[in-house]
Amino acid sequence: MNNFIYENKTKVYFGRGCVREFLTCLLKGYDTVMMAYGQGSVKRNGIYDEVLAILMKEGKNIVEFSDIMPNPTYDKVLEGKRLAREHRVQFILGIGGGSVMDCAKAVSLAAAFDGDAWENFWARRGIIDFKPIPVGVIPTTAGTGSECNGAAVITNKKRKVKTGYDYPKCNPGFALMDPAYTFSVPGKQMVSGAFDSLSHMMETYFSAPDEQNVSDEISEALMRSVIRNIRQAVKEPRDYTARSNLFWDSALSENRLIKLGKMCDFSCHLMEHQLGAYTDCSHGCGMAVLHPVYYRHIYRDGLTKFGRFATSVWGIRPEGKSREELAEAGISALAEFIREIGLPTSLRELGIKNEKQLKEIADSCSFSPGGYRKMTPEEILEIFKECF
Ligand code: NZQ
Ligand code: ZN
Repeated sequence: MNNFIYENKTKVYFGRGCVREFLTCLLKGYDTVMMAYGQGSVKRNGIYDEVLAILMKEGKNIVEFSDIMPNPTYDKVLEGKRLAREHRVQFILGIGGGSVMDCAKAVSLAAAFDGDAWENFWARRGIIDFKPIPVGVIPTTAGTGSECNGAAVITNKKRKVKTGYDYPKCNPGFALMDPAYTFSVPGKQMVSGAFDSLSHMMETYFSAPDEQNVSDEISEALMRSVIRNIRQAVKEPRDYTARSNLFWDSALSENRLIKLGKMCDFSCHLMEHQLGAYTDCSHGCGMAVLHPVYYRHIYRDGLTKFGRFATSVWGIRPEGKSREELAEAGISALAEFIREIGLPTSLRELGIKNEKQLKEIADSCSFSPGGYRKMTPEEILEIFKECF
């Protein structure tokens, strides 16, 4: 295992009714609270009314920061920064999916900083030697794990870059996770989010060190759990147990726990983020398109681990198979699962119409040092073409 430091300051309150039970006491001492939310789902499913009633009862000055879009832009972050400064916001409450939570964290950082936040914290990893505005979140999707980390993935439209670093100081102080809040997520979005969790596990699992280590064992258990519970939630969307497992799987996949002692790959994320910067595609759907193709490119560099993935995660029997055949069977099982749950399998389905654009996107991708093999722009372009 590699050396590590583990820190996670997010306090999680999990379960039905947790917002009603705990929000009031968590906001004690903050008079002016920014309510950050997306493009209307929280108004339709009643979560907005529930939170608003609690804040009003406590006599908070409420500053609404609404209409945060999927794949939030840096311009939106700057709008939130202006609002937070103008109203002297003391606390930011992000209520929504990964996009809303990321935007809330980004505003908390940008509003407490006088310089160019993009240059200092997104263009490169920066040092936060000041206190961001405190943030708490009420996640309404399962998938990104944003509720338990310090990352804010933001798209800079002018620069055509989507990126974000995990800053422990930007972890939300609390996450109120009520699985019933995810019931209203549309089926396609539910599956796409859950696949994002699976992708976080795979991107961590397929990286050095590969010798016996507890992080990989936890990842295997989490991958089996996500796969089982996606199937159950597709069959029975209001299954509280399935939704609870998917919610907690999502947090565990991105709260740094399974990354301890691991290099972590995240090449597919780096590729997908640039696809997102150019096309605004759904993150989880992009992950589904890229993963099997990327793994068919690299599995020979991690043959033993891909074989273990086949047996431990997909229950494939190794008897009668060569090491290569076993590894390939695991990747085929993943591809088959993606089809089974109705996720897209091509970039066309994500809205990329022009194959010529792929080179520009491939050239804009950055490279992960943690994968089994370092990608080149040429190989990324090959992967994109195979996905097209
Ligand atoms: O905007 P509203 O109206 O709220 O609708 C959203 C949005 O249209 C809707 N939705 C959310 N909760 C709902 C709901 N609809 C009905 N009922 C509910 N309870 O779902 C749509 C998608 O929401 P979004 O927040 O964009 O989805 P997700 O949670 O998948 O977040 C994706 C974003 O997170 C980033 C992605 O890149 C993307 O920008 N990521 C953040 C990470 C992190 N902070 O650690 C890691 C991930 O790898 C990822 O990059
Ligand atoms: Zn992701």
